[in-house]
Amino acid sequence: MVRSALAIMALTIAPAALAQGATPAERVTVASPDGRITVDVGVDPDGKPDYRVFRDGKPVIAASRLGFTFTDADPLTRAIRVTGSEQTRGDDRWEQPWGERRFVTNRFNGVRVRLQETSALARVMIAEFRVFDDGVGFRIDFPEQPNLKTARIAEELTEFVVAQPGSAWWIRGGDWNRYEYIYQKTPIDAVSVAHTPITMRLDDGLHLSFHEAALVDYSAMWFKRFEGQRFRAQLSPSSQGPRVVRAAPFTTPWRTIRIAEDAPGLYDNDLELNLNEPNKLGDVSWVKPFKYIGVWWEMHLNKWTWSTGPRHGATTEHVKGHIDFAAKHGFRGVLVEGWNKGWDGPWFGGNSSFSFTEPTPDFDLKWLADYARKKGVRLIGHHETGGNITDYEAQLDAAMKLYGELGVDSVKTGYVADAGGIQAPGPDGRNVFEWHDGQRMAQHHLKVVETAAKYKVAVNAHEPIKDTGLRRTYPNWVGREGARGMEYNAWAIPVNPVEHEATLIFTRMLSGPMDFTPGVLSLSGQGDLKLNSTLAKQLSLYLTLYSPIQMAADLPENLAKYPRELAFISKVPADWSETRMLSGAIGEYAVIARKDRNSEDWYVGGVGDGTRRDTRVALDFLAPGKTYTATIYRDGDDADYRTEKRHSIVIETRKVTAADTLALTMAPGGGYAVRFAAGK
Ligand code: NOJ
Ligand code: CA
Repeated sequence: MVRSALAIMALTIAPAALAQGATPAERVTVASPDGRITVDVGVDPDGKPDYRVFRDGKPVIAASRLGFTFTDADPLTRAIRVTGSEQTRGDDRWEQPWGERRFVTNRFNGVRVRLQETSALARVMIAEFRVFDDGVGFRIDFPEQPNLKTARIAEELTEFVVAQPGSAWWIRGGDWNRYEYIYQKTPIDAVSVAHTPITMRLDDGLHLSFHEAALVDYSAMWFKRFEGQRFRAQLSPSSQGPRVVRAAPFTTPWRTIRIAEDAPGLYDNDLELNLNEPNKLGDVSWVKPFKYIGVWWEMHLNKWTWSTGPRHGATTEHVKGHIDFAAKHGFRGVLVEGWNKGWDGPWFGGNSSFSFTEPTPDFDLKWLADYARKKGVRLIGHHETGGNITDYEAQLDAAMKLYGELGVDSVKTGYVADAGGIQAPGPDGRNVFEWHDGQRMAQHHLKVVETAAKYKVAVNAHEPIKDTGLRRTYPNWVGREGARGMEYNAWAIPVNPVEHEATLIFTRMLSGPMDFTPGVLSLSGQGDLKLNSTLAKQLSLYLTLYSPIQMAADLPENLAKYPRELAFISKVPADWSETRMLSGAIGEYAVIARKDRNSEDWYVGGVGDGTRRDTRVALDFLAPGKTYTATIYRDGDDADYRTEKRHSIVIETRKVTAADTLALTMAPGGGYAVRFAAGK
């Protein structure tokens, strides 16, 4: 079934689309397989490398420079010539061990353009572009060469000049709270410094998302606007001066531009996954998608504590109760935070010494791990580092080994420290301070994931580095946070705005799964904080915010108050063979159909913003001629997230076929979830 045919074609110079004044050999073009997207790359008349992107002949990215500055060498920006190029092509389909879809199509035309200085240094970089029908990826490859043995990169000068005006949805980059900001919508020319993915809708309706793929041993790219609609890659800082230090040969991560006619086209897009390397871990059948509950929300409500004392959450007795609840309701996992030594001090920012192997005296780790396993449940480990990776890396192997031996086959990691507050071992043995998304943390996260893999443990990182599709290469990297999740509804003022999820789907979620932790059925946080959500919307999030690990975040006693909704959560799959966004608009709503990976059942989730919205869902994704039982969980007619009726829900069943269309209304702050059970 799975074909693999990546053909590297012979060296050719493709027909040139000329920048005025350039000689033909200085520019190369490449078109997507459907011919609609073209990239033109080369050097301008001054010998500065640049590229442009067109769709249907219309500029999407105007002339944008490529280049680097170094802390110990001349800039590599001008007096450059094209000294060769080769075309590449990919046309294959590969299988995901878990994911939004089982098979991913990888089809592109590409080019590798050799750019060489005309000066005596004669340094070389190869600009490699891959052009898909729904986007473009490119990176710079530094081959081994005499005058650039080690690159100490001060700045990457890669530009993205957005060719038309429009709107942008973004969070600011380089600020203290990492990725945990409320998304803002502004004109493109009002963005300052943004994290990626950053999403744009041009005035002619074209949708773009800028991001990166395969962020390995390099600093993350922030998206900095410095005039008009001209953006540049700004690399996350390092304590060491250069933002990146790499010995040649090496490549930068891929810079990616998803290009689609509408918002669903941005979502149903595998650009970054395709640009990552295939699975390096071999047999990963031990990586299991699952749903879980936890000793967690109670801490965020201030009911119980991470620290020891009378309100300590992670006691043997409390956790046993959670295991019993999980077993009864079919949850595979029980997350336990505060189980280990180190929470009693000022742990935020790495100022306490966590032990990752020693439980607190009131927590019998081994007994609980065994008790859980006997009931078909697994404890989920927790490694909060407070951002101190010096301590963590020193214990990493022992910590993962312990979990591996106990059958604790997944761990949530955490890096609670302000941006720039990661403590890492410095060159003289003393700690230095790093950024959550700098080169040092890119290295760290892979070290954690690889060490965990050695012991067959899956990783879910909080306060992480952003997702760049590395789950393809390391399929045990099952989840991460990296945005404002549910926890903000427990304690933050303001809580997540009502359109937050409908924005996340078209921004943060384009990068990969998120451990958002839905399922707060009580719809309340601390004190009188209320979620901007109806009850039906909580159910919809299991279908609209994709993750192979999904939490039911509320306290077990609250979940138990909603037995029908709890039954839905306990049965909804977390692994899919197909995913298709049926309709949606950024920050307004999304309707997504997914097929269960382990049965013939389909599901549809819809989530909206603060307005009432009527949607029509054509069921033509169902198998033709088959009858399905649709169980619909929708907002009651009087449901409204701003009133006492936020819990109003209707649960109804109907027989349907692929020829039917369902009319479904989302209340303000609402949504819906539908299960289509095949042949039942
Ligand atoms: C922040 C994480 O996002 C949250 O889930 C966790 O409970 C705390 N850190 C403590 O580790
Ligand atoms: Ca967090």
